[in-house]
Amino acid sequence: MTSSAAIWDKLENLPRPTLGELFSAVRDGGEGADEPGGTDRVAMLSGRIELEEGGILFDWSKTHLDRAVIAAFEELVEAMDFSGMRAKLFGGEVVNPTEGRAADHATLRGTGDEAKVEEAMALIDRMGMLVDAIHQGALGEIEHLIHIGIGGSALGPALGVDALSRDLSYFDVHVVSNIDGVALEAAFAKCVPAKTLIAVASKTFTTIETMTNAQSALKWLADNGVSDPGGRVIALTANPEGAVEWGVDETRILPFQESVGGRYSIWSSIGFPIAMAVGMDDFRAMLGGAKAVDEHFRDTDGAANLVLRAAFADLYYARVRGCQTRAVFAYDERLGLFPDYLQQLEMESNGKRVTADMQPVDGPTAPITWGGVGTDAQHAVFQLLHQGTHLVPVDFIASIAPGDELDPAHHRILLMNCFAQGAALMAGKAGEDPARNYPGDRPSATILCDDLDAAALGALIAFHEHRVFANAALMGINPFDQFGVELGKAMAKAIEKGGEEFDASTEALLGASGISR
Ligand code: F6P
Repeated sequence: MTSSAAIWDKLENLPRPTLGELFSAVRDGGEGADEPGGTDRVAMLSGRIELEEGGILFDWSKTHLDRAVIAAFEELVEAMDFSGMRAKLFGGEVVNPTEGRAADHATLRGTGDEAKVEEAMALIDRMGMLVDAIHQGALGEIEHLIHIGIGGSALGPALGVDALSRDLSYFDVHVVSNIDGVALEAAFAKCVPAKTLIAVASKTFTTIETMTNAQSALKWLADNGVSDPGGRVIALTANPEGAVEWGVDETRILPFQESVGGRYSIWSSIGFPIAMAVGMDDFRAMLGGAKAVDEHFRDTDGAANLVLRAAFADLYYARVRGCQTRAVFAYDERLGLFPDYLQQLEMESNGKRVTADMQPVDGPTAPITWGGVGTDAQHAVFQLLHQGTHLVPVDFIASIAPGDELDPAHHRILLMNCFAQGAALMAGKAGEDPARNYPGDRPSATILCDDLDAAALGALIAFHEHRVFANAALMGINPFDQFGVELGKAMAKAIEKGGEEFDASTEALLGASGISR
């Protein structure tokens, strides 16, 4: 079998036809003569994942993937034993060796090891019972929910609530993550204490930002006449003992598995505010959409696997074409928080410098994920995409069905712009002068949902989770730990404790801000 180093070498040295050349059906019998162009190319590099209702189209034809590049990546799939890694993931085996853990997030959608799926379903049912009970008034007249968490304990809930509860929300949900008290005060200002529930979301139940915010929320309830503030707290955690110790009654603790990582936890009880806002049926539909992607990813081999194909393009741009960033633009206001969500998912997972067996990685790992919403971003950052010196692969995400009920012109203009951007990036245009010249040959992929409902959101998120996994498996890195975040936390603790000397700059900043040490 060819070594991965030899495959990367091959990829480096393959011919680099432009997108224009790849789309051209005319090949003159020369090199690449069997490369399909035009609509055949679109057919070769597009595919759908069907959901219970509707589905999602994944069009990777405007990337530089061609038969030769794909064939090389398929060799890499073999060389890195991708199938073995994937079988371990879905089999509930250890795929996070530094922490000796499995990564069981898919079990919460009903995919994976049978016993683990059963355990996960019981946890979801338990959450469902509490959600339904609260909806029926078990905790009194509740109108507001302040969800306190950070990182993976906040980004998913914020995205899910924002994306799915615009038409109908059973509760007024506020997600607070930052330790900056301004964030919590903003939520307080919008809630009536007597009608407010507090969800404390923390996998570890030790994160200083979350625990400090939770204490302040309890104080706010007490200061505003709520007689039993503790009775208003729901804990969402993989550390139920910690929650009990903190003072939460066991009946109001919704646990999840230790083997579900923070940034993969939206499917667990961390998704409680989503279920509160949209109801359990929609929450379960979100899980169902994710399950459809699990099954596609688990059961499809080679480049026909749409997730794997996306990972081929990611790796090709990051490692062969030297792209340091990857941009994601949702042409859908409801996905405004999706780039933030992806930033943690991709960068915390694959921003690594050693392989799973502790060797230095043999090339760049995760590019920097950034993005925004279209069309806003067109009027702000797209200049760089079209004419800047960086090559930035772009993903566009859109929904065929509109999310609004205004004049259909709104949605038509939105989608037209989305498709026009991909076409313009690829085609470019010769200018009368260099300033008006568009080089073109800039890659993009388009993810087009029939509708952006709960199932589609679940599918989109699961697609990206597995995309991250596929990237990691092909690079030989562990996407499930995050030791990089620990040093800064330890230093903050050391500053708080005092007695340790820091560098002159940090000492000066501490002195200037009057932080007592
Ligand atoms: O510091 C990073 C991190 O550990 C993330 O991975 C995690 O999502 C976040 O902190 C919050 O952790 P917890 O849910 O344990 O409060």
